[in-house]
Amino acid sequence: MMRKNRVLAALLTGAMAFSLTACGGGGADTNADTGAEGAQKQASDITVGFAQVGSESEWRTANTENIKAAAEAAGVTLQFSDAQQKQENQIKAIRSFIASDVDVIAFCPIVQTGWDTVLQEAKDAEIPVVLVDRGVTADPSLYVTHIFADALKEGQNAFNWIDEYMKKQNKTPRGGSEQFQIAILEGTVGSSVAADRLKGFNDAIASAEDGSKYTVLCSQTGEYTRAKGKEVMESFLKSDGDKIDILFAANDDMALGAIQAIEAAGLKPGEDIVIVSIDAAKGAFNAMIEGKMNCAVEHTPNFGELLMDTAMKIANGESVPETIEVEEGIFPADTAAQELPNRTY
Ligand code: AHR
Repeated sequence: MMRKNRVLAALLTGAMAFSLTACGGGGADTNADTGAEGAQKQASDITVGFAQVGSESEWRTANTENIKAAAEAAGVTLQFSDAQQKQENQIKAIRSFIASDVDVIAFCPIVQTGWDTVLQEAKDAEIPVVLVDRGVTADPSLYVTHIFADALKEGQNAFNWIDEYMKKQNKTPRGGSEQFQIAILEGTVGSSVAADRLKGFNDAIASAEDGSKYTVLCSQTGEYTRAKGKEVMESFLKSDGDKIDILFAANDDMALGAIQAIEAAGLKPGEDIVIVSIDAAKGAFNAMIEGKMNCAVEHTPNFGELLMDTAMKIANGESVPETIEVEEGIFPADTAAQELPNRTY
């Protein structure tokens, strides 16, 4: 355990130095002690264990490929596990990473709760943990950092874009109602990104100047998959097909499944029903080019390089920020053809 003890001691030194600096304590070099501990570890000395959620979406597949490619490019050894959407499998994977004494454990938590015990086990084994993409409700002292994109902002951006678009297009509600009727396909129940996107979207309606022009007619999980997105949209259309003006899908796959359901119901996706989704993967760009979707709000899966850099720093006892946020864009349909060649996923 000598190796891990040294890393944690250096991280602690870094954290203390950081708080001194933050309080105006003299700009201490947060990494000053790391070098004194011995030679820098090279990428080839480092093993990262990554517990993935599954392969439910185009985004997830891209995320897996990006993390594997980044580990290979960096020369870091990667132990990769696919939990097939089951929290118990992710917990088992984390325990196996602890047993094989990896240098850093990283995972994208399927749901927010239920991690305290296994995170404590990692802490007791002195293996630092990095959260990637989704968050947890556990005590932040149980993990070193969280690399993430702001899902709350994504939900807000989705509604704000819709609101602008409805005004610009002089749209009026289809069903003769006073208000635009919104259908929502939510993500995996219990996951941080699903909760945040939904909250961001609903908060944006509530705080918009003309938010009273909108009402949420139906909102249900489509589990981030194309098949479930289609199935739930079919049931929305059965009961409210003549009323729905807007679909907010919390990921592209659900939007693409819903598009099939909308077409099967004899409606024009992107025209009769304005469709906005999150991820901005190539499938959504193709749908926008075909005029079947109106806007994609970006949620990047490309966390790999940042994860490998962060793991290297942690393994070498350098301090890292408590959270690391990545920036994202918004892609309306009229930018899709130009942007598609630049998309990496
Ligand atoms: O956690 C990220 C979300 O999970 C993506 O938006 C979605 O496509 C995936 O399944």
